[in-house]
Formats: sequence, structure tokens, C-alpha cells
Amino acid sequence: MTKVSPSILSADFANLERDCKKVIDNGADMLHIDVMDGVFVPNISIGLPVVKSLRKKSDAFFDVHLMIIKPHLYVEEFCKQGADLVSFHIESESDVKETIDLIKKCGKKAGIVIKPATAPQEVFPYLDMVDLVLVMSVEPGFGGQSFMDNALDKLKVISDEAKRRNLKDLYIEVDGGINETTGKMCAESGANLLVAGSYVFGSQDIKAAIDSLKI
Ligand code: DX5
Ligand code: ZN
Repeated sequence: MTKVSPSILSADFANLERDCKKVIDNGADMLHIDVMDGVFVPNISIGLPVVKSLRKKSDAFFDVHLMIIKPHLYVEEFCKQGADLVSFHIESESDVKETIDLIKKCGKKAGIVIKPATAPQEVFPYLDMVDLVLVMSVEPGFGGQSFMDNALDKLKVISDEAKRRNLKDLYIEVDGGINETTGKMCAESGANLLVAGSYVFGSQDIKAAIDSLKI
């Protein structure tokens, strides 16, 4: 069954503890925490102090998605402050292998992310080193955008390659525009971890929304 990682970008930041508890109590497997620096993406969200504060209030697994220009400078601090998994973009300025190694040295899980214009084969050199590959199905930066269906082919290419290499534990995550319909299409194309922000937090029935993404 697919796992669900609600993106707290769509939560109420003035009531973050309450909203995180709400999704976890309603069946979310983890929390997706979007970090943006206003340089790698044209938006600024939250950073280290929020991860640190949230860690004191929640035992949930923190799936931290870094949309920052130089992730290698910050990954260790995110691990120290409470991230369980740190993913970063291969389009950033950091050396990919070096950054994966820094995360692993902290004893945390490492993930790599590709934007919509990046070919799926770009992750192949790192597939055996990472715990997660995240395929963006919108241009990173904002919640509430429409799903781009070129993500489906990319998920298929990556999941076929993971199968070929027998990487049974690899998380294949998709992020952006996920709802009941697009989530199902992604699961059929090989995703096993679905991020959803506006769909989950905007729903009247959060439990039903999360359940609908367990495919
Ligand atoms: C976008 C973020 C996403 C975003 C998804 O850059 O990485 O995690 O919160 O939001 P929805 O699910 O609303 O597209
Ligand atoms: Zn994200």
C-alpha cells in the first residue's frame, strides 16, 4: 500500500502543532516539511527553527524536502534538529554524492529530488545510495498547483530501474497536485509514497482524504 506524507505547507502555521497532530492521528505515515530559500525557488517557507520546535512536540517521522541552493551546507543541521529523512534537489549547486554522504553520516535517511524538466535517468547514478527518490509533479515553490502528468512516465522509468536492481526498500515519492485521482495514477506508475498538501489540509474530512491516498 502507498504511504502518505501530508505537506505542512498547507497547514495553519499559527497552529502547526495542532495541524501536525491532526494528520498523524488521522492515519498519515509521516510529515512532509517543505523548506524554501527564495533562491532555488521563488518562495520562502520555513527552516531550521521550525523543525527544531516541531520535533519537541511530535514523534512523527519528518520527511524534509529542501528546496535550497546549497543543501550541503545545511543537511547536517536539519538532521541534528530532528529530520528523519532529508531530500534535496540534484539541480542544486551541491555535489550530490557528497551531500548524500553528509546525511548518511548523521544516521538519517537520504533522498534526491528532480524537478519536472529533469530526466529520470539523472537519478540512476545515485539509486543504490539513497533511501528515496522524489519526482516533482509541479514546479517546486508553491502548494495548490495542478499535477503535471509527465511525472507518470518518470515514475515508471525509476520504478522499473529500482525493480531491475532489486531495490525493494526504495521510496519512490511524488509531490505536487496529488489528490485521489492523480494519486491513483502515480501509484499505478510505481510511486509508493504520496505527498499531498492542499488536498489533505483543504479537505472537510481529513481521515477520508488520507485514506483515499492509501492505494
Ligand atoms: C511544492 C512543495 C509541495 C507542496 C505540495 O514546492 O514541494 O510539497 O506543498 O502541495 P500540493 O499538494 O497542494 O500540490
Ligand atoms: Zn515538497
